[in-house]
Amino acid sequence: MITFKKPDEIDRMKRAGKIVADILSAMKAMIRPGIDTMSLSDEADRILDKESAGASFRGYRVYGVRTSFPSAICVSINEEVVHGIPDRERILEEGDIVSIDVGAIVNGYHGDAACTYAVGEISEERARLLSVTYRALHIGMEQVIPGRTIGDIGHAIEEWVLGNGCGLVREYSGHGIGKKLHEAPQVPNYGSPRSGVTLKPGMTFCIEPMVMNGRERVKSLENGWTIVTCDKSDAAHFEHALLVNEDGAEILTPWE
Ligand code: MF3
Ligand code: CO
Repeated sequence: MITFKKPDEIDRMKRAGKIVADILSAMKAMIRPGIDTMSLSDEADRILDKESAGASFRGYRVYGVRTSFPSAICVSINEEVVHGIPDRERILEEGDIVSIDVGAIVNGYHGDAACTYAVGEISEERARLLSVTYRALHIGMEQVIPGRTIGDIGHAIEEWVLGNGCGLVREYSGHGIGKKLHEAPQVPNYGSPRSGVTLKPGMTFCIEPMVMNGRERVKSLENGWTIVTCDKSDAAHFEHALLVNEDGAEILTPWE
């Protein structure tokens, strides 16, 4: 069921979204060659604590995975697409790309956003992947107008990504968000124009293109969580939580 948010609910979602954005800014400032990924997670926890916010992802369960997600953030490096687990032994290296995904809950409402960062100087190929994926998010957001559909969003993203010679992760989607981290509707990064749910003011959902430089095949690692590309090509991930307004998308997670 799609829930339409009232003004007081939107206020809470903005508070959660602001904390998510603040955490992403802190991550951006910390990311450099030599830092371990658990230190990033520790800082995220520190900010959540300070803001008296909860971690949306910690304890999250998905069907078919034995363990719940252990951390407040996902840290996914290079060929890791999403859901990488912070690790004291995992050190960022010059030239890596690292996707950070953050969720926060405030007064019962969630915020959720992701961004992929360069670690030091990166290759032209990796820089291009980041810009194609970032643009994919914004091309999707441009479709967020009352009267357009979920299929319009997916179609625009798919055309852009494939047109640039990249691949899309199709197993995971954007999603409605609110009292639950994942609500209806699903927001796939592919689709047909004028298909699916029609957008209306008061809807809140995340758009989150996950894009790879190679074949469209992914698998999970032994830990059950980390999703990687099968051909080890690089992947990037950008996400915003959005509110549908009368005239377009309002960003609830202002990390840019
Ligand atoms: N942004 C991701 C999503 O919306 C984060 C989920 S991570 C998990 O699916 F740990 F909560 F699964
Ligand atoms: Co999400």
